[in-house]
Amino acid sequence: MDFQIHELDSDVLGKKLGQKLFSPKGGLLLGMGAQIKEFHFKKIKEVGYRSIYLLNNQENDVLNSTGHLISEKIRASAPITLKSIYSKLHGRDKIQISNAKKELGALADLLIRDVNIKAAPPDIIDLKREKDYIYQHAINVAAYAIMIGESIQYHQLKLYDLAQAALLADFGMLNLDPEILYKDGELDEEEVEEMHKHTMLGFQHLSRNCFIKGIVAAVCLQHHERYDGSGYPRGLNGENIHEYSRIIALADVFDAYTSDRPYRRLHTIDEGLAYIKKYAGAKFDPRMVASFLKFFGFEDEDSL
Ligand SMILES: [Fe+2]
Repeated sequence: MDFQIHELDSDVLGKKLGQKLFSPKGGLLLGMGAQIKEFHFKKIKEVGYRSIYLLNNQENDVLNSTGHLISEKIRASAPITLKSIYSKLHGRDKIQISNAKKELGALADLLIRDVNIKAAPPDIIDLKREKDYIYQHAINVAAYAIMIGESIQYHQLKLYDLAQAALLADFGMLNLDPEILYKDGELDEEEVEEMHKHTMLGFQHLSRNCFIKGIVAAVCLQHHERYDGSGYPRGLNGENIHEYSRIIALADVFDAYTSDRPYRRLHTIDEGLAYIKKYAGAKFDPRMVASFLKFFGFEDEDSL
């Protein structure tokens, strides 16, 4: 790899950027290979990036493949679309809810068409802007879920439901206290318990107020259940957890584990894969783990 992650501090000044950076509205903030000046640095910090990629070889202006699972254009625009969908679903306006459901379907379709499982495996960690973390994370979870769904031969309708479920899994977060949600540090026991409520809250709101398809809303409730029964809220295990939830649980953990969060260090893709493998058959459905690892080029799980 010709680039490396660097914490956003004054050392990056004068260096060349190894990625494209986008504003919260999806506009291009700074192009790949751009030399980072003082005002860029301030702007990048302001929009909430905590780390950035720098070109390793500072003479190199061009960097071709970033191995993204979804195109950069959609990576920039989809979180904004999803944020607007969440806000409409959260309101009580029936017309807005109905529009949001159509937009959700269109976004799921767009992602299914865009996810390129034939591309090189993702070799770059997606650095998220702190304030839009939920939406950027949901897009990645949907992309990984689609990837697994395709690899286990899901037909279009199943992929469509799976993608929508992944996009809505954390919807209940909107009901949580923002102070807990955006806390810059580890949560205490009480706060963790509060966080866990996003499963039930999301499920209740989407099924009661938005009449979201049962199988899609159920993923809100189940995506923190674990294969060995150690999850929440109900401690379901194995096949008692719906297959969509087992897929999304894996995608959710992998993306969270490899994301830059304020309370823990950034893990590499390799560390993320090792983590997933370690818990195959425990936290995660081993069949889904095998499909996931295969995509990253590990035919035999022991080769990791
Ligand atoms: Fe969640």
